[in-house]
Amino acid sequence: MYYIFIRLYIVYLSNNLFILIFNQLIIISQIQLIKKHIYIYLEKGIKQLMSSIVQKEQIDLQECISSIDFSPSGEYVAVGLIDESVKVWKADFSQDISKQKLHSFEGHMMGVVDVKFNSTGNRLAVSSLDSMIRVWNVDDGEKVCELQCNPMENWKLAFRDTNTLLTAGEQGKVSEYNINSKSLIITHQTRDIFATAIASSKDNSKFVAIGNNDGQLFIINYTNNKHITTSNYHDKKIRSICFSNDDMKLLTASDDGSAKLIDLTKNEAIFTFNGHSGNVNCVDYCPIDEKLFVTCSYDQTVKVWDINKKSCIETIKFHQDNVWAAKFHPTKKIIGSVSDDGLLAFHELK
Ligand SMILES: *[C@@H]1O[C@H](CO)[C@@H](O)[C@H](O)[C@H]1NC(C)=O
Ligand SMILES: *[C@@H]1O[C@H](CO)[C@@H](O)[C@H](O)[C@H]1NC(C)=O
Repeated sequence: MYYIFIRLYIVYLSNNLFILIFNQLIIISQIQLIKKHIYIYLEKGIKQLMSSIVQKEQIDLQECISSIDFSPSGEYVAVGLIDESVKVWKADFSQDISKQKLHSFEGHMMGVVDVKFNSTGNRLAVSSLDSMIRVWNVDDGEKVCELQCNPMENWKLAFRDTNTLLTAGEQGKVSEYNINSKSLIITHQTRDIFATAIASSKDNSKFVAIGNNDGQLFIINYTNNKHITTSNYHDKKIRSICFSNDDMKLLTASDDGSAKLIDLTKNEAIFTFNGHSGNVNCVDYCPIDEKLFVTCSYDQTVKVWDINKKSCIETIKFHQDNVWAAKFHPTKKIIGSVSDDGLLAFHELK
């Protein structure tokens, strides 16, 4: 009898003890769960607080937008549309940009590929799929000239000196036009592959860089009697190129999903920036803070990268479609981006 009692007591005690421990465990695990949620919540809040992107403005043009450029002083912004027009605004960010529209340049048959201001910002060159380059006077809105190119030999544009405009395209041909005399000055031959990107060095008497459909990069060295060097940095199409302020480096963007930083003095890639999950359509240095650059992609995002940190510091998920181009304002930390979703958007880095 005694024995049974003790047994029962022990069982009772151990059960209670078990229940007690079990309850404690539940309480502990619930506390952990709550803590975890608090952490997630805080983390989100902190991330939002620390996010340095401010959405400044958006303009809905209701048509795919292929290209954007700021004039070199930052006074104007221009975009090229697939509907054959180009729109120009005064870019005074203290007011509503959409209310500062200056021009709508029409008649770029089959759609606009690229828009580029000359270095004083009073000429805007437009490359379109009808194999024409049209140059517009930004001051009075008049068309200055039309350059008829060979079929598809004009694609992206680059200004060299005051009146020299370069384009490259079909069969890797690079054409230099004088926009005053409206004539072709010279053509350079790279490889017999479509040239998809072109950029002038910041000191535009020095270099022109060209990228092609196979990921090859060509540098025309004007200080060296136009000697052309060739390198293979990407596996796929190079879509965009940008020189650093000192012209010692450049950035490339490619359909292989990466952007590369290239040292021109050593002719080698310093770093590969991975992070986009689609073609990288455009790359641009921040002119006032060269550790930063921006890329945009088929994956619908715009990314800001820090070269020193070797990483992406901001991903802007704003657009709902392919983002064709993103450009830094020349004197402000403002990025303009354009997309197939029809939106022109301005994002500010705090
Ligand atoms: C821009 O074009 C205009 C007209 O051709 C020219 O007067 C001006 O000097 C150009 N700017 C530069 C410095 O390229
Ligand atoms: C361009 O040519 C100059 C003169 O020969 C040379 O000093 C320079 O290294 C060349 N630059 C590149 C990037 O090829």
